[in-house]
This record gives sequence, C-alpha cells and structure tokens, in this order.
Amino acid sequence: MKTTYLGLELRSPVVVGSSPYTTDAEHIARCVRHGAGAVVLRSIFEEQIVRQAAALSCQSPDAGMGDAGEYLERYLGDEYLAGHLRVIAAARETGVPVIASINCMTGSAAWADYAAAMEQAGASALELNIFLQPTDRHAAGAELEKTYVDTVARVTKAVGIPVAVKLPQRLTNPLAVADALVGRGARGVVLFNRFFEPDIDIERLAFAVGSPYSHPSELRNVLRSVALCATAVPQLDIAVSTGVHDGEAAVKALLCGARAVQICTAVHRFGYAVIGEIDRFIDAWAERHGFASLDAFSGRMDYGHTADDTYQRTQYMKYYREFCGDDVPALG
Ligand SMILES: Cc1cc2nc3c(=O)[nH]c(=O)nc-3n(C[C@H](O)[C@H](O)[C@H](O)COP(=O)(O)O)c2cc1C
Repeated sequence: MKTTYLGLELRSPVVVGSSPYTTDAEHIARCVRHGAGAVVLRSIFEEQIVRQAAALSCQSPDAGMGDAGEYLERYLGDEYLAGHLRVIAAARETGVPVIASINCMTGSAAWADYAAAMEQAGASALELNIFLQPTDRHAAGAELEKTYVDTVARVTKAVGIPVAVKLPQRLTNPLAVADALVGRGARGVVLFNRFFEPDIDIERLAFAVGSPYSHPSELRNVLRSVALCATAVPQLDIAVSTGVHDGEAAVKALLCGARAVQICTAVHRFGYAVIGEIDRFIDAWAERHGFASLDAFSGRMDYGHTADDTYQRTQYMKYYREFCGDDVPALG
C-alpha cells in the first residue's frame, strides 16, 4: 500500500526505524528486499565522538591539554561522519528513500554541519533524535522545549530536504511542541523516541542492562498522541515508532492518522520477513473494508473524527457503579 511521508512517495507505509537493522548496506538491502517503504539509518551520535575523544585524550601523555582533546574530537568526528555518509550513499543505490538520523548535543553546531553533509551524500530526508534528560531543577519544561525547536530551526535552515523530529514521550504537551516545529520548518514528527532505561541488580548493587526492545502493549501509549496530533497539527506527517509488532498494530496507527509506521523490535522478534507480512496485512485489511488507498482510511479514527470523549478520558470512572450504573464493564 503506497503512502506519502514527508513529501516522499513510499511504496509501503512500513519503514524500518533507526536501529542495528539499518546499520549498513547489507542490512538495508535486506529491508528493501522485504518491501520496506523507506529506511531510517542508525543515528550518528555526537556524544559518542566526545566520549571517545575524552577516553583517548586521558590515555595520551598530553592529557589535560585542551587543544589535543579538540583535535581528537574533530578527527574522530570526521571519521565517524565519513562512515555514515558512505552508508547513506550505498543505501541510496537501493532505490528506496533513505532517512538519515542525527542525535547531537544541546546547542552544538554539529547538528547543522552533519545535516548538510548527509543531504549532500544523498539522504532523502532527515530524522532528528532530540532529547534532553532533565537533571537541573531550575530548567523549566518550556526552556528545554525551546532548545528542541531552536535546534530544528538551525537544521531546517541548513538543508533543503524534509526534516522529521523524533519526539520524546515525556513532554507535557507534545501538541504545542509539534505546532512550534511547523513554524521552524519541520515536515513531520516521529511519535515517539523510546529510551534506553537503566535497571538495577539489587544483589550486586550494580546497574543492569535492561532490554532495549518494546512490548506490543506500549503502542497504546502512542495511539492517543497520534490521534490528537493528527487533528491538531495536520501540517505534520506522523510516523509511529514504539510498539508496532504486527499488521493489526500498523492499521491502528494509520487509522489514528499516521502516514507511516516504523518498526524495530518486530524485526528483532520475527526477522525481516515481518516487513512484507505487515504490508500484506494492511492491503488485505483495506480490501476487506473497501478502502482503495491509504488516504481513504488514514486518520479515520483520529481525534477530529471521534464523536465521544475517548481520547480525552484518562480516568477510570467507568469502572465505578456510582458513575455508570449497571453499565460497569466486567473485570473478568
Ligand atoms: C538496539 C536498538 C538500537 C536503536 N538505535 C537507535 C538509534 O540509533 N537512533 C534512534 O533514533 N533510535 C534508535 N532505537 C530506537 C528505535 O528506532 C525505536 O524508536 C524503538 O525501538 C521503538 O520502536 P519498536 O517498538 O519498533 O522497537 C534503537 C532501538 C534499539 C532496540
């Protein structure tokens, strides 16, 4: 089933999200062979360059000399970026749109530099993976959100290709942020970025490695935001990320207003064949319901199409008899 996302024509709304499954030309070729509509490349992380440079500069006899650290950062950064640019150029040969992904540090000029280089290498679009973990009790939410939109404005000024922003789920009002992004030139949002959460081993009193993979139930946290955002900010194309493991989940996301679904854990669980399976499920479902194209059903269950208060209701009132009388749902 064809779709348009960020102004790009995709042969399928099933996109493989930024992950190890899009890490190099060989993995990307597998995504394409199995019918992916587009691929989002693994992010370039500025933080990785800075940490690596700091580690190397500690080992060097010149440790502590500021210039050496800066030189290492520049050198490692150039090498690292060059590797990403080679992957973009190779992926471009596959014929499906290639969305490059950037994760830089706050206030860094590298966002715009990397974006321009990625456009030059042949990226069809960019996805900005922005998140600031609040650790400063004096930094208000609005201040952090301003940093997001300022970063996006810098990048959209630097490139001509469409830019999507992968937003964190922990925003007070994602709609306000999405609206501000439109004004800064963004074409889409990815809802949502899923974070690597630390875990604790209570016997060893040590940090443990939690699983990076999602559970299908996580989709429900995303659907409401998609339905609200599709109605409130229709200028942005939405891609759903987090919890799309099968065709049914993909259809739900599209009904809420998404133009594409990004999958990552599903590829981990079921292999690359899941890409084609989800796409075929969408086709069969649409045919069964008499929808000839994605436009015929995309957003059919977004906030604007919903007569009742389903998307507004967040409390469990309907489970109490004093509010609903005998209509209380059975709890099983
Ligand atoms: C091992 C692993 C690596 C990932 N690397 C990136 C990355 O480089 N950049 C990024 O934006 N998201 C990254 N993600 C997040 C995924 O793109 C995606 O947003 C998340 O896994 C939720 O989607 P899912 O439910 O389909 O897994 C990664 C996820 C996993 C599991």
